[in-house]
Amino acid sequence: MSQLTILYISLSGNTHSFVSRLRDYLSLNHNITPRLINVKELRHETFALSEPFVALLPTYLEGGNGLDNGNQEILTTPLGDFMASHDNYKYCFGIIGSGNRNFNNQFCLTAKQYAERFGFPVLDEFELRGTSSDIERIAEKILHAQAAFTN
Ligand SMILES: Cc1cc2nc3c(=O)[nH]c(=O)nc-3n(C[C@H](O)[C@H](O)[C@H](O)COP(=O)(O)O)c2cc1C
Repeated sequence: MSQLTILYISLSGNTHSFVSRLRDYLSLNHNITPRLINVKELRHETFALSEPFVALLPTYLEGGNGLDNGNQEILTTPLGDFMASHDNYKYCFGIIGSGNRNFNNQFCLTAKQYAERFGFPVLDEFELRGTSSDIERIAEKILHAQAAFTN
């Protein structure tokens, strides 16, 4: 059985729902049972990862419009701290952003900021809990990116 590690944070449950359905999809269709790490449950504890992983990150910004203001991350910073600790980000082969399109230019902005900060690609984006077609598309993108990273 192949391995996949999914690192994520979820404050109000949407990303957790997506990750749970993604895990079920991967298990059913690819015989993969991913290792799931919800940074929120770690309560600021960090540890070293020694395997490639994908990150899923919802967007929580402090007001503004995402253009000339409104790019200050709130609530999700423990994920960035976890990635920076022990140089974990070096094993990240990509990030998936999530958010709400009502936020216009701020939609999924934090994932883009992390991609720039740490030097890995944004693989895709989805809104709120995501649809089943988001899950199928994103599962395939994750597997392709992981294969490219490890080969
Ligand atoms: C205070 C607050 C600020 C938010 N800011 C943004 C934002 O700037 N951009 C965006 O795309 N979504 C924003 N959202 C929407 C969340 O990213 C979205 O609801 C996401 O699905 C939450 O994921 P979670 O339930 O896993 O925590 C915000 C939500 C809240 C409650």
